[in-house]
This record gives sequence, C-alpha cells and structure tokens, in this order.
Amino acid sequence: MKSAAPIRSICCIGAGYVGGPTMAVIADRCPDLQVTVVDINQDRIDAWNDSDLSKLPVYEPGLDAVVGRARGRNLHFSTGVDEAIASADMVFISVNTPTKTRGLGAGQASDLRWVEACARQVAKSAVGHTIVVEKSTLPVRTAEAVKAILSAAEHSLDGSQRSFSVLSNPEFLAEGTAISDLESPDRVLIGGEHPEAIESLASIYGHWVAHERILRTNLWSSELSKLTANAFLAQRISSINSVAALCEATGADVREVARAIGTDSRIGPKFLQAGPGFGGSCFQKDILNLVYLCRHFGLPDVADYWESVVQLNTWQQHRIARMVVKKLFGTVTGKRLAILGFAFKADTNDTREAPAIRIAKDLLEEGAQLAIHDPKVDSEQIARDLQLPASTAPAVDSGPTRAALSGEGTWWPSDDVASALREADAVIILTEWNQYRDLDWSVLAPLMRQPAWLFDARSVVNPSEVRAAGLNFWRVGEGQS
Ligand code: NAD
Ligand code: UGA
Repeated sequence: MKSAAPIRSICCIGAGYVGGPTMAVIADRCPDLQVTVVDINQDRIDAWNDSDLSKLPVYEPGLDAVVGRARGRNLHFSTGVDEAIASADMVFISVNTPTKTRGLGAGQASDLRWVEACARQVAKSAVGHTIVVEKSTLPVRTAEAVKAILSAAEHSLDGSQRSFSVLSNPEFLAEGTAISDLESPDRVLIGGEHPEAIESLASIYGHWVAHERILRTNLWSSELSKLTANAFLAQRISSINSVAALCEATGADVREVARAIGTDSRIGPKFLQAGPGFGGSCFQKDILNLVYLCRHFGLPDVADYWESVVQLNTWQQHRIARMVVKKLFGTVTGKRLAILGFAFKADTNDTREAPAIRIAKDLLEEGAQLAIHDPKVDSEQIARDLQLPASTAPAVDSGPTRAALSGEGTWWPSDDVASALREADAVIILTEWNQYRDLDWSVLAPLMRQPAWLFDARSVVNPSEVRAAGLNFWRVGEGQS
C-alpha cells in the first residue's frame, strides 16, 4: 500500500445537508486538520456561524454538539470559495445535483451545472497538488468530465504548477441519523486511480473508522455503487408498499408480513416499514438518474425495471389521498382535516419530495381545509412546497368559510396537535415523529367533528386506544379480517 501524502487543510464546497455535518464530524475527529466549508449562499453560511447552535441551517440530532466543539478551532464556514480552495490540499465537492428540469434528459438526468462550476473554480484557484473528491451523488463516469476540466488547467499556459487527482467518495448518511451514520458508518467508499490519493483520504477516515470498513474501488464502481445503494433501498420500500395494498385487500397485515419475511436472514428486517411512500431529496432523483443512464447505455428493459420503483411510490401517495376522500363519504370539500407531520421522515426539517406534499396537494385540489402540524418544519417552507400561501386559521365555530363554500382548498399552520384536530373530520399522520406515538386519543377524539377518522400512514398509534376513543381507524397495510 502506498503511503499517504499528509493532508493539513481541506475545503468542502457546499454547506448543505451533507457538506455541513460531514465536515463537522471530520473536524471533530481530526483536530489537526483545518476544515473550511464554503458556500455561495450567504444566509446558509451565516446560519452555520450563528452563535446560537439551535439556529444551524440543518436540524440533525447531535449536530449542535459536534459543531460546538470544532467551530472556530479547526472548523470554519465561509463564502470565500477561491481562498479556501487555494489553501486546501484536498477539496470536496458536495453541491446539489437535482434532476434536470429542462433540456436533454429533463425529468431524469442529473443537473450537473453546479458540479461543473465547482470543477472549474477548483481548476482556476487551486495551488500546487490538489486532491478533488466527489462527495455529491453523481452519474457514473462524471469523474471523466471533472478530470477533463482539471487537466486542462494543469496544462495552462500561465506557468503555474498545478496538478490534480480525482476521487469518488459518495456519502451514505441518512437524514435524522447523520451524525451517528458519520461517526459509525457501515462502510466508507473511496474510488480512484491514484493509490496515494486514495490513501490520503483513507487516512482521514482512519482517525475513527476501522480499516476493514474503508472500501477501495475504481472510480466508476464507486460512482455507480451510490446510485445502486439508493435504488435498492427505495426498491424495498416500493416492494413493501405494494404488499401493503394487497394486505388491505385481503385481510393480511403488512407489519406481520414484514416481520415474517424480515426474520429470513437473507432478506433482513430493515427498510420494510410500509408508509406513505418514500420522500427525501435523493431516492427519486437517483433512481431517475439510473433510469436515464440505462437508456443512454442501450438498456431500456433495465430502465423500465427501475422506473417502476418510482411509479409505485407515486401511486402509493395518490392512493392514500384517494382513500381519505373515499372514506369521508366521497367528498372533503370544505372539510377540516388535520395533517400531522410534513417532513419526509422524523428527526429532520427537510421536506424535499416529502409524501405530505403530494397528499396535501391532492386534498387541496379536492377543496379540503388543512390544518398542518410539524414540530420542525416552518410555515414558509410548507407554503413554498404547496405553492400556496397559508390562510389564517378559521375560528372553530365559524361554520363553513367562504373559501370552503367556493370549493377552494386552503391550509394553515398549527402550533399544537390539539388545535389542529379541533372540529376536524379526520386526522392523517404522515411523518413518524415520536410525539405522535404518545398522543392521548381519549382526550383528542372528542375535539373532532363526529363521525371522525384517523388515518395512520406511518403505523405510529395504538389501534386499540384509537378505537376505544370512538374514532374510525385506517392504517397502512391493515386488512379487515
Ligand atoms: P443541499 O442543497 O442541501 O446543499 C448544497 C449546497 O451547495 C447549497 O447550499 C448550495 O448553495 C451550494 N452550492 C451549489 N453550487 C455551489 C458553488 N458553485 N459554490 C459554492 N456552493 C455551491 O444538498 P445536499 O442535500 O447537501 O446534497 C449534496 C449532494 O449530496 C447531492 O449530490 C446529494 O445527492 C448527495 N447526498 C445527499 C444526502 C442527503 O441526505 N441530503 C445524502 C447522501 C448524498
Ligand atoms: C437515504 C439513504 O438511506 C441514505 O443511505 C442516502 O445516503 C441518502 O438517501 C441520500 O443519498 O440522500 P434519507 O433519504 O435521508 O437517506 O432517509 P431514509 O431513512 O433512507 O428514508 C427515505 C424515505 O424512505 C423516507 O421518506 C422514509 O420515511 C421512507 N422509508 C424508509 C419508508 O417508507 N420505509 C422504510 O422502511 C424506510
């Protein structure tokens, strides 16, 4: 094994959900390394630098403590992108790679404009030898483009001595558990062509990750493994959600089926929780990217196979909205419905691709009045996601409002669960926040307009307590036996 060139200073471009927490943990575990996280978004950088650690731009359990220990010592947040690149031995690219919305591959391919801009900025500002690490999730063979841009700078005519090595080091953290995922990863994956560069990066992780958990591959395997890991995880969710629908139709119970199959060690128990469909910024975009790549490489049947995972997920979200309407006598126009949970999963303030968005939009389309509660998502974010400004909450005894009579859907934010439920015809649980597990339905049910329903898309409540409180009850994947 080649010895590692010592790395003293690293820079990470992109202070988002991945760049911020990942660099905070690296700085925490490697006190001798100077870590600078840069971003073009001044507000985000200001939030990372806020002396009040509860105002960090990303909510992750444990993140405040890690940032509190390292910030100002060897962890820095800045908008000085060029300076940080110039003084770094290693630059991570951790910028957004959303699905393209226009042009070639729109709706499926990754939009690589931010990655390319980073590569060009590194090419312009780097000094000496720089290891460039792809941390963003990228289509397989993106490193080819990054290398081409960087090697053009190596041969520039300005006489400066610059050289680059490119590595792929995809991130597998999940939101809500980012800190524990980063502190004890199942594996760290490093793909590259230059053994010395690979060992330099491995030696950073080696401060806290066991040697056998640091996997080395070629560049293309590393890039493709990230897309494949997300595709496999998402596929399990679509599989169990498809079975949930069949359970509802046949009298089986998806929780029992999940337990029965999950105890087979070849299948395993994780990622078998039926729900309102997967959300989050990555599963859908990464599978669509895989689909695009398969078509590009002349494999339409493989593309169709993976595309069906996303189609099933979209179907599940619409199915839940349709089922709510059906149970409420075929109409929700003017009816108050409480939505509990807007984040795409518990323990995050992230709403990107949250199932709540599609389900709420469908119900608004039907003319519902939605009281939306989420412990971490603010109302401005919900308004952006629904593309509809919040209304003021109507007085509970106001009767049907003008908006309700005209059939227009409206929504308002609710600070507490009880006020969301007051006079509601139904409550729909869409995120598995712990606080929703302990609600006292004997107190809450009488606040609702009867007959009232509880739709539990996350299997968090105790069915017998809900039924004892006199509510009609539906939960995902539970058939009537
Ligand atoms: P994000 O949108 O939260 O953050 C990206 C940041 O990059 C933004 O703050 C943006 O302002 C900044 N940026 C963009 N272009 C820039 C430039 N040229 N110079 C400086 N800053 C720039 O995105 P994220 O969720 O952190 O995801 C980043 C990448 O990591 C994506 O490829 C994603 O697929 C991947 N990923 C995300 C997760 C996750 O849980 N969110 C997990 C694993 C991998
Ligand atoms: C996911 C992967 O788990 C990470 O490994 C990966 O790094 C990340 O995507 C990424 O590339 O962005 P994340 O999206 O943060 O992480 O969260 P997950 O815990 O995977 O949940 C994704 C969605 O699936 C959520 O909406 C969640 O509620 C749903 N889910 C998850 C289920 O419906 N059922 C399950 O059993 C598990």
